[in-house]
Amino acid sequence: MQVVILPSAAEVGRTAAAKIAQVIERRPDAVLGLATGSSPLAIYADLAERVRQGRLRVGAVRAFALDEYVGLAPSHPQSYHHVIRRTVTEPLGLSPELVHVPDGAAADLEAAAADYEAQIRAASGVDVQILGIGANGHIGFNEPTSSFASRTRIKTLAPRTRADNARFFDAAEDVPTHCLTQGLGTILDARELVLVATGEAKAEAVHAMIEGPLSSMCPASALQLHPHALVVLDEAAAARL
Ligand code: GLP
Repeated sequence: MQVVILPSAAEVGRTAAAKIAQVIERRPDAVLGLATGSSPLAIYADLAERVRQGRLRVGAVRAFALDEYVGLAPSHPQSYHHVIRRTVTEPLGLSPELVHVPDGAAADLEAAAADYEAQIRAASGVDVQILGIGANGHIGFNEPTSSFASRTRIKTLAPRTRADNARFFDAAEDVPTHCLTQGLGTILDARELVLVATGEAKAEAVHAMIEGPLSSMCPASALQLHPHALVVLDEAAAARL
């Protein structure tokens, strides 16, 4: 695991974006793994700026989001379908038909999860997976106790995660209770991982991810198993290292 600590959140975004841009320059039809949440927004903004300036071409780029809430229609502003469209697909000008998000509104969620795995396989896997980290050490929506071998499946959201994400909803009880998420095994299959974390609220989880034991109680510790994992932190997120 390569760990880079930078003075500001803006530099974290720029550094991670440079890495993603490199992958796309090397392979114009690269498969990106997309994360939601606040942490990767600076990456997406930086990439969008590169596209706007004509420094990066993304017409053939394909993408798979990590996760989706169960029970929210794709048109719901807090569904990850909507969030990915608003923060990634539209600002970067990706082709919408090449951007995939698990179908959390499917009648048969198990079939939707299996189908998502099959779609990733059919695309020959993810070239570079962008990740944030939850305050409880989750990645995607792989909450503590997730198996390192897990694949895309239905998960129950931890109370801490629902509380953290309540800020996006009108009322705390509106936060969905379940999700579809790529598994830790799915995430570890990506050829490269880039995880970004900023702010002191992440310091404990970052410490457990990097210096703690491999443990399903800190799902992000699975990154210790990956041969090409880059972790980019600001000083606040690195405070416990
Ligand atoms: C969400 C997402 C994760 C994200 C995490 C942290 O619940 N499912 O992919 O990394 O929480 O979010 P943030 O970056 O807003 O702190």
